Amino acid sequence: MAPPSPSMAPPSGVALLISVTLVLLLVIPWVNGDAVGGWNVSNQREFDYFKLTLLWPGTACRRTRHCCPSNACCRGSNSPEEFTIHGLWPDYNDGTWPACCTRANFEEKEISTLVGALRKYWPSYSCGSASTCHGGKGSFWAHEKHGTCSSPVVGDEYNYFLTTLNVYFKYNVTRVLFDAGYVPSNTEKYPLGGVITAIQNAFHTTPEIACSNGAVEEIRLCLYKDFRPRECALQSTPRHGMNSRSSCPKYVSLPAYTPRGDGKVEMSVSSTYQSESM
Ligand SMILES: *[C@@H]1O[C@H](CO)[C@@H](O)[C@H](O)[C@H]1NC(C)=O
Ligand SMILES: *[C@@H]1O[C@H](CO)[C@@H](O)[C@H](O)[C@H]1NC(C)=O
Repeated sequence: MAPPSPSMAPPSGVALLISVTLVLLLVIPWVNGDAVGGWNVSNQREFDYFKLTLLWPGTACRRTRHCCPSNACCRGSNSPEEFTIHGLWPDYNDGTWPACCTRANFEEKEISTLVGALRKYWPSYSCGSASTCHGGKGSFWAHEKHGTCSSPVVGDEYNYFLTTLNVYFKYNVTRVLFDAGYVPSNTEKYPLGGVITAIQNAFHTTPEIACSNGAVEEIRLCLYKDFRPRECALQSTPRHGMNSRSSCPKYVSLPAYTPRGDGKVEMSVSSTYQSESM
């Protein structure tokens, strides 16, 4: 597995601001949990398998109403055009999952070398900030609270993010779909069964697919703890308001990305942004 490319351009002012914002967003879920010492998986039992969850930007960006530095939909021609990481989530075989297996301190500098790659492959598609482990509102980065429960396998948070990037590089769902002819389009519809079969043939596991208004929004791959593909738990429960079993019609779309903004990110923080983020 190749490590993420270290060849990211040095940060410009805007990129730096975005990086800082990203790091802050990443940090929040890790520090807001109960402060139990060290990497202790509180009183939740160890998880059974991982779920690599990927987001389709063409669908995710439809929700963008306004731009801010953290929203990858607003990067103009640099906005994501392939599936990006939503999370690598530990799950139980009974369809539930642990969350908020917290530790005391998040070392921001631990992931500083990954920020370029995270920004590209694991971007946020919203202006909201993370919810906490204490029932704050849900937003993109909130799900990293699941990352804290991965420690029995991946160790510290640097390794959580690095491992997730590597797993993402290994299972390139974008390539599989494109190679099978399922390319971004605002007019075509594709048979859901065909999309599932393409992934089954490539990775020998059945993906979960979640849709929003008939468009593919998420594709999830289930993996053993050694990251080989496996089937997902049978009674996987709806997560984040999306029921993977029923949210897709027989024919789905894979919307092309419609650039928002002009690639320049507004530097001023709008009042909307503030009310959404806090
Ligand atoms: C982790 O928690 C368990 C159960 O609460 C406790 O027995 C164990 O000693 C803790 N381990 C560490 C390293 O704190
Ligand atoms: C996945 O495959 C696509 C299409 O071949 C390619 O453009 C992209 O760079 C690949 N992504 C990663 C993360 O390797």
